[in-house]
Amino acid sequence: MRDFHIVDAANPPQEDVLFDTLRWGGQLLILGQNEQAVTACRQRFAGSPSWCCEQPDKLPPPQAVPGGPAVHLCTVRKVGIELPGRLTARHSYEVRLVHRPAAHPSHELGPGSAGWAVEKRVPTFEETHARLIQTHPTIAPAQANAVVRWLVKTAFPLMLTRETAFLGRIHTYMPAHLAGRTPELLEVEKDPRGMINRIHMTWLRQGGETLSQIAFAQQAAEMLSAAHHAAGLMHLDVRLGNLVVTERGVGLIDFGSSVMIDENLASNRTAQKVIHRTLESSEITENLIRHHNKGLLGNPLFNDLPTPPTAGFDLFALATCMTRPHDLDEFRGLVAFEPHSPDAVTLSQLRRRVLSRAPGQPGAISDMHQFAQALQELRTPAKG
Ligand SMILES: Nc1ncnc2c1ncn2[C@@H]1O[C@H](COP(=O)(O)OP(=O)(O)O)[C@@H](O)[C@H]1O
Ligand SMILES: [Mg+2]
Repeated sequence: MRDFHIVDAANPPQEDVLFDTLRWGGQLLILGQNEQAVTACRQRFAGSPSWCCEQPDKLPPPQAVPGGPAVHLCTVRKVGIELPGRLTARHSYEVRLVHRPAAHPSHELGPGSAGWAVEKRVPTFEETHARLIQTHPTIAPAQANAVVRWLVKTAFPLMLTRETAFLGRIHTYMPAHLAGRTPELLEVEKDPRGMINRIHMTWLRQGGETLSQIAFAQQAAEMLSAAHHAAGLMHLDVRLGNLVVTERGVGLIDFGSSVMIDENLASNRTAQKVIHRTLESSEITENLIRHHNKGLLGNPLFNDLPTPPTAGFDLFALATCMTRPHDLDEFRGLVAFEPHSPDAVTLSQLRRRVLSRAPGQPGAISDMHQFAQALQELRTPAKG
């Protein structure tokens, strides 16, 4: 995937091809000698929630190119997570990059992120309904309405309100050397009940040098170990899509499902219901059950999961996703991965150790701190 795509205005590729090969926040550079062709090409993206045309409607004057004729140029940025109308398994928030011109200049996290922030908001009834129908086409209309109402009125605002509180907590308690590797809150909007329905946060832009697979796992475990042991919270949705590889190292995002390690969930029945339902339908749980049924979980840490949640859930999730970094297309080029390479074999062995050894057995791993330490003890990773 790329950060830039040069597009010949006279012969532009298909929108979905451009979208799929561009990283989030990446830019199309639309070029052409003919002003009408550049304008027409730009117009294909104007008004789409997935793209942002960065110049005003009137194109800037043509630019001189050394040794060639002057060309017209405009840029279009990929700001949406998905193309509108595309079938997606995502069921949750509306997330996009928004332009914040003069706001928070100090919050630039890596080249190219200045002036931009991530907006995460509770979707409308219509947006949620449309997505549910796409992924569950046979659902009865009355049931669909009830599910969507519950999501939009209860589950999403509650989880976004909790996420906001956790981001504040993370900001306070994470060690200073991990700064910039979790989002920082910029702005919060509440509904009339006082529930949070929209936040703006810093954009942890993907980029930087390619990490070796071991360095990727080490840094992810370091973040999670700090979340557990310094901030006192379990993430509970550790997947490749909730990790980012940035100039500052591996970052951790999406604290919407998080729970404090010492939280008494039973004291808030609604929160307990929302979190239990989320965990029960999570793909991590699906994977956990698959491993359980195959008899691969010798470590009793994983016995009673997913509910009530424990820190073991994150341990399982990281141990299983660190061995397949390229399952997320965005990580190609950012994390080195070669099946059967020494790194891949070493991490698969460590994964088996986490999943199968019971406490008391040599090499058993029982918390994120021990996992992070075991990763640190692996040979010094080669640059990818
Ligand atoms: N602060 C951020 N920095 C970089 N990428 C982000 C940030 N917040 C969200 N994203 C991107 O948006 C996607 C969806 O956001 P997320 O918070 O995970 O919402 P959801 O709860 O719907 O999964 C993430 O997988 C990631 O690609
Ligand atoms: Mg997510």
